[in-house]
Amino acid sequence: MRIGIIGAGAMARALGGGWAAAGHEIVVGARDAERAAGAAAEIGGGARGGTIADGVRFGEAVLLAVPVSALGEVLAAGDYAGRTIVDCTNAFAPDSGKFVLAEDAVAERIAATAAGAHVVKAFNLCAAEVWAGTAREFDGQPLLVPLCGDDAAAVARVTALARDLKLEPFHAGGLAQARYLEATSAFVVGQWFGGHDARAMFPPLAATFAEVDG
Ligand SMILES: NC(=O)c1ccc[n+]([C@@H]2O[C@H](COP(=O)([O-])OP(=O)(O)OC[C@H]3O[C@@H](n4cnc5c(N)ncnc54)[C@H](OP(=O)(O)O)[C@@H]3O)[C@@H](O)[C@H]2O)c1
Repeated sequence: MRIGIIGAGAMARALGGGWAAAGHEIVVGARDAERAAGAAAEIGGGARGGTIADGVRFGEAVLLAVPVSALGEVLAAGDYAGRTIVDCTNAFAPDSGKFVLAEDAVAERIAATAAGAHVVKAFNLCAAEVWAGTAREFDGQPLLVPLCGDDAAAVARVTALARDLKLEPFHAGGLAQARYLEATSAFVVGQWFGGHDARAMFPPLAATFAEVDG
């Protein structure tokens, strides 16, 4: 697949490195040519650096790996029509030291702004180091990657991209669910940074007393 990665930081390198290793073609689009080239070199597999517009033009899938505050600029810098946008962002309020959201529904805002694109929220829940690493199972269970998106082809594309990182994709609902995934991330990451094991708060399904639909 042709992947445009917008941003040249930790998430760009973590996800891009795995995708390049899986054989995907990558253009890193960043506002700084030197940093784009540096990230591309680290990603390897023939990845190239370019402008943001270059990354958007190149990608069948386009990963937005920038702060939420940069999205307005980044979405205005290219034509995303027909692209699958992979939104891994978290709107954690900058420098607040707290995990509160600066914005309630980022993926939905992206979808409303990028005409003709199909947005899939994914990869926002765990740290870049997790995606770059090799641990894919914890306590005997595969690490699930929740994906939220409306377009079946776009969800299938991001499903394949998660599998290429040896992760277990999980379609957690349509794009309207993404705001809950975003809020979950703020809550869970806040617990982790407070030194608490969020995993311990969730019993296995059989012990939840939930009546499974259907
Ligand atoms: N790091 C994680 O563990 C993690 C995990 C899950 C989700 N996320 C989310 O993923 C996104 C990227 O995080 P990251 O850790 O990769 O950040 P990062 O390492 O700080 O990299 C951010 C990238 O965005 C670029 N950028 C910043 N402002 C910009 C603007 N106005 N226009 C164009 N480019 C701009 C930066 O460019 P310069 O290099 O020129 O500054 C940099 O290349 C964020 O939304 C974050 O919440 C991060």
